[in-house]
Amino acid sequence: MTLDPLDSLGDAATPPEILHSDTQRIVAPDGAALAARAAELFVTLAQRAAGEEGARFTVALSGGGTPKALYGLLAAPPYVGQVPWERVHLFWGDERHVPPDDAESNYRMVREALLSKITIPAENVHRVRAELPDAADVARDYAATMRGFFQLQPTQWPRFDLVLLGLGPDGHTASLFPGTDALHDTTGLVAAPFVQKVNAHRITMTAPVINNAATVAFLVAGADKSGVLSEVIEGPRDPDRLPAQLIAPTDGTLLWLLDEAAARSL
Ligand code: 6PG
Repeated sequence: MTLDPLDSLGDAATPPEILHSDTQRIVAPDGAALAARAAELFVTLAQRAAGEEGARFTVALSGGGTPKALYGLLAAPPYVGQVPWERVHLFWGDERHVPPDDAESNYRMVREALLSKITIPAENVHRVRAELPDAADVARDYAATMRGFFQLQPTQWPRFDLVLLGLGPDGHTASLFPGTDALHDTTGLVAAPFVQKVNAHRITMTAPVINNAATVAFLVAGADKSGVLSEVIEGPRDPDRLPAQLIAPTDGTLLWLLDEAAARSL
């Protein structure tokens, strides 16, 4: 049974809209309110997953700009004190093929917005070792990190408590970009596609890993995303062109956390 992550989520004014049994949508007035709803969700799920002694809360973080406000909120009161950080394990859903102190690094973004401001055991931060020169080695290394942490058998998939995702203007999510082989990877945990659009390799969790999570939450803000968002949610199915359509948890909840500007075409 999948617990409804939203059943204790604050603001009765805009209750989540149930799209179908395991997909829900919340539309917040603006980016700041969206970040606050996402912080509430993070706290709710963290307390639920890591409530008991020895339990843990496993999260795959998103890169890009939209989640920065969320990470900033989680690093400060009232949220910072509500999260059992000693039981939180942070992973990255995707990473750029750059060293951890590079301006493009998703790890660096999270370090600056969150990690540098909280107390969390260093061993709970499982970053992508994207400084390795060969992107395929980076992917293998991160897959090994996940296999070790989740103690996976060869055919098993890791089950994250929460995977945070963004949505690119071209319909990509994590680093699952249109027209890349990574979209069709149904056996690997982590892929290292060369992405023409950014003229670089990216490191990304594959769709089966993301879809095995208990909760997958898209954070999407801004009018510039409204067109692609309505195509992804309401348009014809075409995941090669709109990879975000690959995301459908097999035994979990899919949440669309949106601001009004992004949701205006829905
Ligand atoms: C990345 C992300 C990527 C991001 C989208 C949306 O590494 O860039 O993981 O998938 O979520 O590109 O980015 P914005 O939030 O900046 O619009």
